[in-house]
Amino acid sequence: MLGAPRLHLREIDSTSDRARDLALAGAPHGALVTATAQSAGRGRQGRVWTAQPGAALSMSVVLRDPPPLLPLIAAVAVAESCGEDAVIKWPNDVLVGGRKVAGILAEGRPHEGWAVLGIGVNVAVDVDGLPEELREKAGSLGRTPAEIEPFLSSLLGALERAFALGADDLLNAWRARDALLGSEISWTGGTGVARGIDGEGRLIVELPGGGRTTLNAGEVHLGRLPAT
Ligand code: BTN
Repeated sequence: MLGAPRLHLREIDSTSDRARDLALAGAPHGALVTATAQSAGRGRQGRVWTAQPGAALSMSVVLRDPPPLLPLIAAVAVAESCGEDAVIKWPNDVLVGGRKVAGILAEGRPHEGWAVLGIGVNVAVDVDGLPEELREKAGSLGRTPAEIEPFLSSLLGALERAFALGADDLLNAWRARDALLGSEISWTGGTGVARGIDGEGRLIVELPGGGRTTLNAGEVHLGRLPAT
C-alpha cells in the first residue's frame, strides 16, 4: 500500500531528498514524505521546482523493486487525477490547457532495488505569483488548499491502479493522453515530428529527411511545446 508510513513536514528542502534518506535507512515500500513547503524543490535535469507554500502537493514515495516503466506509470496516474482534459508531454509532464500543472521526478538505484518517486502538483497555485520565468508555461488546477489532501488520496489510489496495469494497458493509457503526437519538436540533437512512444517509453521521432529515431528521456531536453 502506498502512503504508509507517512512523514508530513511543514517545511523541508526537498521531499525527495528526505525520502531518499529514508529509503537508504530501510524504509518500506510505500513510505511517503509530504511537505507544505519546499525550500529546495528539485525538478528533472537539474531544474528547480517552485510552488507557493501550502498551495501545491509536494510528495515523494519510496518504492521497492520499482518497475522499468515507472515514469510512465506515474504520468498516467497523475494525469488521471488531474482530470479528463489532462495530457502528458513526454516523458511525464502533465499539462492542462497547454500549461504544466504537475511534474514527476523518478530517481533511485535500480540495482539496489529502490526508487523515490517525487511528484509536484499545482493544485491551488496562483500562477501570477510564480517567478516570472515560470509564469508563461506553468498552470494550476485552480482548486483550494483544502483540496490538496483529498487530491493526494485520489493520486495514491490512481498510482496503485496504474502499478497494477499490464504493460500494454499502461502504454495505451499513456498514448491516449500524448500531448506531442504529430507535433514538431526540437531537442539538442535535432528536430522532427513526434510519433508516439515505443514499448520502452522512448519517444519516436520522424526525422525531416525521412527515417525515424527514438529519444531517451534521461538524455533529451525538448525545446518546444506542441501547438495547442
Ligand atoms: C519536473 O517536472 O522537473 C519534476 C518536478 C518534480 C517536483 C517534485 S515536488 C516533490 C518532489 N520533491 C522534489 O524536490 N521534487 C519533487
